[in-house]
Amino acid sequence: MSDWLSAPAGPLRGEVRVPGDKSISHRAVMLAALAEGTSRITGFLEGEDTRATARAFAQMSVRIEAPQASERIVHGVGLRGLLAPNAPIDCGNAGTGMRLFAGLLAGQAFESTLTGDASLSRRPMRRVIEPLTRMGASIEAEPGGLPPLRIGGHRELRGIDYALPVASAQVKSAVLLAGMYAQGETQVHEPHATRDYTESMLRAFGWPIEFGSGWAKLSGGHRLRATDIQVPADFSSAAFFIAAATLVAGSEIILRDVGINARRTGLLHALRAMGADITVTNVRRGGEPIADLVVRHAPLHGIEVPLELVPDMIDEFPILFIAAGAAQGTTRIRGAAELRVKESDRIAVMASGMRELGMHVEETPDGAIIEGGTCNGGDVDSAGDHRCAMSFAVAGLLARERVCIRDCANVATSFPGFVELANGCGFRLNAGA
Ligand code: S3P
Repeated sequence: MSDWLSAPAGPLRGEVRVPGDKSISHRAVMLAALAEGTSRITGFLEGEDTRATARAFAQMSVRIEAPQASERIVHGVGLRGLLAPNAPIDCGNAGTGMRLFAGLLAGQAFESTLTGDASLSRRPMRRVIEPLTRMGASIEAEPGGLPPLRIGGHRELRGIDYALPVASAQVKSAVLLAGMYAQGETQVHEPHATRDYTESMLRAFGWPIEFGSGWAKLSGGHRLRATDIQVPADFSSAAFFIAAATLVAGSEIILRDVGINARRTGLLHALRAMGADITVTNVRRGGEPIADLVVRHAPLHGIEVPLELVPDMIDEFPILFIAAGAAQGTTRIRGAAELRVKESDRIAVMASGMRELGMHVEETPDGAIIEGGTCNGGDVDSAGDHRCAMSFAVAGLLARERVCIRDCANVATSFPGFVELANGCGFRLNAGA
């Protein structure tokens, strides 16, 4: 177990380039592995989650070279070129890995098993089992629809028209990936639009697909052609620095090359509504829109988080909790019950940790009511959740006394090098605690 100490500090200054986007890195390796030809991925996230995805393909006989950090050369084997893995595929901490693999493996001519760590083994998989079974897949899970997943091979899949009961890019992507192996057309419709990386990347790899806000459709029977992918910096990793610079008096930082897909940047709108000073500059487009973000300190006030922003900031609630705890007045969060089935129950973990620090948070079934005030410092448990750990590190900057954060090793799943980057711009974070 690794514990951190985060001490009051500031102001924050400097330029920060956070690591590559996790969602895009998973998808880039997956599609490159199934493509015909050799793809080069730059800006790849060297996190444990995405490395687990690359390792899974190596287990299925895909040759992947890493000429240098954050770069992968993937020698694609084509849609039907994977070979049966000789052992269960370990997805580690990654819900995205497991759910997307479930869709992709449902169409293979071999059986496979997907496992994960203790956190992933508690996460709901019925949401992918249900639509994939309707497509003709055979997937067995533990009672309650929990991992490991045993996926039968040699199944004829057929396209479906699927209305997702929850807004989930992972479920949508699982269905679309299975749809590549299915007879006929597969359609998905979402209750709220979610990140469309799978759709755009399928198109970049030459698969015919139509999609718009909240829907997508494709047919089976085409090919993926190798292409090069440049992965932008992860907005969700940038979020900790955006919040930290906003909250600490006198701060000004620049975040470089951040992916600003509209389905990911809900936190920008929420923080601006609270009074934040964030400028989006130098916007350009590789495959995805990217930009530099200039963030200056500004006092925040509480808001009612608009319901329609929730899916666009679903990974940013832990840090929003901290920002709300430091704002003037009350912040109300609703419509975010999905937070209870992330890497941890993020509503419970953030509420109990913040209360330990002397902050005022009331849990509700689908959100929280947070009363802004002071952060005293103290001991909190991140419950092994990377985003909660990094959020509490930001709380330490604002606290009266240092914050001790338990169980931070999983930060390496999404943000290797967080401690060094944070200390480089003014945090006082000790990871040897
Ligand atoms: C992700 C989708 C989201 C998000 C997760 C990554 C993806 O999960 O929380 O961190 O890469 O598709 P859901 O699809 O469960 O909302």
